[in-house]
Amino acid sequence: MTYNILVTDHNGKEHILEATPGFTIMEIIRDAGLDLEAICGGCCACATCHCYLNEEWTDKFEKADDDEEAMLDQAYEVKKNSRLTCRLNFSEELDGMKLILGPKF
Ligand code: FES
Repeated sequence: MTYNILVTDHNGKEHILEATPGFTIMEIIRDAGLDLEAICGGCCACATCHCYLNEEWTDKFEKADDDEEAMLDQAYEVKKNSRLTCRLNFSEELDGMKLILGPKF
């Protein structure tokens, strides 16, 4: 069984990425070679892995904790559907989820 996520990059191009349960969304995007900085490597210390979740998927994740909210305060153009991809774990029920990469730093 393979699972996918759909990611729109900074140029507006949509990519279908194979996603493995247990990995973070950041790892899936980065390992696919898309332009996602993720400078801190997933430590919730840089906000360069910012994304906008498609509205229909926002409720599938736990709400952002205080650490994530604090880092999102450092990101550009934050919206109510903003999340840090390193804080989002992929699981089977997220098959087909969509997101858009946040603006580059
Ligand atoms: S990779 Fe740095 S906060 Fe997500």
